[in-house]
Amino acid sequence: MFAFIYFATVIRQQTIDQIFSAANIEEVVGDYVKLKRSGSGLGGLCPFHNEKTPSFKVSPHLGIYKCFGCGKGGNVVDFVMDVEKMTYPEALRHLANRYHIEIEEDNSNQEELSEQVKLRDSLFVAMEYAGTYFHDVLLNHEEGRSIGHSYFVHRGINPSTMEEFRLGYALNSWDAFSGTAVKMGYDVNILARAGLIKFRNEENHNDGHYDVYRERVIFPIRNLSGKIIGLGGRHLKKDAKSPKYINSPENEIYHKSAVLYGLYESRKEIRTRDKALLVEGYLDVIMLYQSGLKNVVATSGTALTTDQVKLVKRFTDNVTLLYDGDKAGIRAAMRGVDLLLEGGLNVRVVVFPDGEDPDSWCRKVGGEEMEKFISANEKDFVLFKTEMLLAERGEDPVAKSETARDVVASIAKITDPIKRSAYIRETSNLLQFDEELLLAEAKRQRNEIQKQRGRREREESEQISFIQPGLPIEPPREEDLQFRERALINTLIRFGDQPYSEDVDVAGYIFSELDHDEYVFENADLGEAFLDAKKFYGVHGNLTEEFYTRHKILGKMAANILSLKYELSPNWGAVHEIFVKTDNDNYQNEVIANLNYLKLYKIDSVLKRTMKDMEAATEDDEVVALQMRIFKIREIKRTITDILGIEGAMPE
Ligand code: UTP
Ligand code: MN
Repeated sequence: MFAFIYFATVIRQQTIDQIFSAANIEEVVGDYVKLKRSGSGLGGLCPFHNEKTPSFKVSPHLGIYKCFGCGKGGNVVDFVMDVEKMTYPEALRHLANRYHIEIEEDNSNQEELSEQVKLRDSLFVAMEYAGTYFHDVLLNHEEGRSIGHSYFVHRGINPSTMEEFRLGYALNSWDAFSGTAVKMGYDVNILARAGLIKFRNEENHNDGHYDVYRERVIFPIRNLSGKIIGLGGRHLKKDAKSPKYINSPENEIYHKSAVLYGLYESRKEIRTRDKALLVEGYLDVIMLYQSGLKNVVATSGTALTTDQVKLVKRFTDNVTLLYDGDKAGIRAAMRGVDLLLEGGLNVRVVVFPDGEDPDSWCRKVGGEEMEKFISANEKDFVLFKTEMLLAERGEDPVAKSETARDVVASIAKITDPIKRSAYIRETSNLLQFDEELLLAEAKRQRNEIQKQRGRREREESEQISFIQPGLPIEPPREEDLQFRERALINTLIRFGDQPYSEDVDVAGYIFSELDHDEYVFENADLGEAFLDAKKFYGVHGNLTEEFYTRHKILGKMAANILSLKYELSPNWGAVHEIFVKTDNDNYQNEVIANLNYLKLYKIDSVLKRTMKDMEAATEDDEVVALQMRIFKIREIKRTITDILGIEGAMPE
C-alpha cells in the first residue's frame, strides 16, 4: 500500500531546514493563542495549562516559545508537537503542508513509525482522497451536476463557496466510490475505519463491501490545519429508513466532540472580529460565510462540549449563539451554554423568527440585513434566559423562585466575581427578587461547584504524584551520569561562545576534552546532539542560537535557556537575579565541574568493571596487569576528586 511506504520514510535535512525557515512561530502559535506585544516579544494565555494572567511568551526573533507558568517551551516544531499531540515527523509534515513545502524523503534511512502513527496518516490520506473524489463528482460527473450541484444552487450556494468548503456529491450507487478507491490502491480496512465503506459481513471481510455515502451531498469536516478528518452527508430525498445526515464515525483522527465545523475557514475572521457566531448546521455556516458573516462555526447539531469551548476560546472570548425560532430548539441549545460561561466566555443570544433558521433568514434578507438583525437582537444570555423563563412560567411566586434558582445556576458558573455580581443585580431587577437572596443562592451553588472542582483537582494531583515520584534516595549511576551530561550540554548552550582561556572558547574546550571516541554518552539522544554540535562547530567555528533552537533534541533546552537570557519572563529579575549573577561569574568553574563530574562517574564505572574483571581473572599475569590498571584508574580518580574538592566523597 503506497500510503504506508510513503509515511515510513524519513524527511531530508534540507526539507527540515526549509520548514524552519518558512514556519513563522508568531503565525503558528497565533492559531492557538491570542498574542499581544509584550516587552521584546509577544505574550498570551498559555495553551498548555489553565491560567488567567498571561505567562506564555513567544520570541519571533529566536523562533521559540516559553511558558513561565507551566514551563513548556521549545521551537515551532515542538509547539506543534505539544499542542497537536503529534510526533516529530508528523509536526514537520503539518508545517510543510501549511507552508506549501514539498517534502523530500530520505529513503536510505527508514524510520520505525508506530502503528498508531501509520494508521492516523493512512486515515488522513484516505479522507483527503474521499474529499477530492466527492468534490470532483459534484463538479464533473453528470449525476453530480444534475443532482448535487443543482441542489446546492437551489440552496443559494455559489460555485466559489462550493470550492472553498470543498462540497461534494456521492452518487446513487453501492460501489462508485469504493470501486475507484480500491483501484487506486486504498486499503479496504482503512476505508472502513474512516467510515467510507462498510463490510457486508463484519465477520468475513471477503464477502465484499459497499459505499456508506450514497445519493447524498457531502460536507467535508476539516481540522485546524485544513486536513479533512470527517464527512457529513445529507440525504436529498426524505427516506424514513435512513437518517437525514450520515456523519463519520469516531476514529483515530475524528473526534466529534473536539471539532467545530467551519473553524478552519472562519478562525481568522473570528480573531479579527473578536467574536464567534455559533450555529447548528453545516448549511447555516456556509450560508452565513458566503454572505460575509465569516466568523461562524457550527456544533453540528449536538450539545456543546468542553473541548469545543476551549477551541473557541483560543480565538475569542465572545460568542453569539444563533438559535432557530422554535422553542424546542432553543431549549436544547441552551443546555450547552453553562459550559461557555464556565469557560469564561461572554455569551449572547439571537433568536430568529419562528420557522426560520440562520440559513433561511440570511438567504431571505441578505448579509447586510443579517448583520443588522444580529446586532439589533443580540441579548446577553443570562438576561435572555431570565426573560424566557419568566415569560414561559409566569410571574406567580413559586414559578418565579424556580426561575430565580435556574438563572442563578448559570450565574454561579461564571468565574469572574465582578461579572457575577453585576448579573445578580440585573436579574434581581428583572425578577423583582431580593438581591441578597440571589447572592446567597449564588454563593451556595458556587461553593458546591468549588467543592467538586477541588475534588477533581485533588484526584488529578494525586495522579501526577503517582506518575512522578520524588527522586530516589540513591539514584542509579546511569541517571547521575545522564544528569551530568545534561548539565554539560546546558553549559555549552549558555557559555559555549565565551572565552575559556586565551586561545579557546568554552565550546572548543569542551569538545577537545570530551572526545566522543572515548566518552560515549549514557543518554543516546544527548550523545547524538553532542556529535551534531561538534560537527557544526568544526564546520562553522562557532555554535549559533539558531543551531540550538532548531535542533530536534536540543530545541526545548535551548528555548528554556535563551528565553531566560533574553528576559522573556516578566519576573525574570526577581526570580533569577542571583542565579544569573553568580552563574556568569563562574562559568569557567561550571565547565570544569561538569566535565570532571562526567569523567568521575565514567571512571568510576570503569574502575568497577576492572575490579570485577580482576576477581574473575585466573591467570597470574592477568591479575597483575589488572592491578596496575586499577592503581592508575584510582590515581586519575583522585586527581579529579581533588579538582572537584570532593575527596573521599565517592564510594567505590
Ligand atoms: P438540521 O436538521 O437543522 O439540518 O440539523 P440543517 O443542516 O439545517 O439542514 P437543512 O437546512 O435542513 O438542509 C442541524 C445539524 O445537525 C446535524 C448536522 O450537523 C446538521 O447540519 N444533524 C442533523 C446530524 O448530524 N444528523 C441528523 O440526522 C440531523
Ligand atoms: Mn437548516
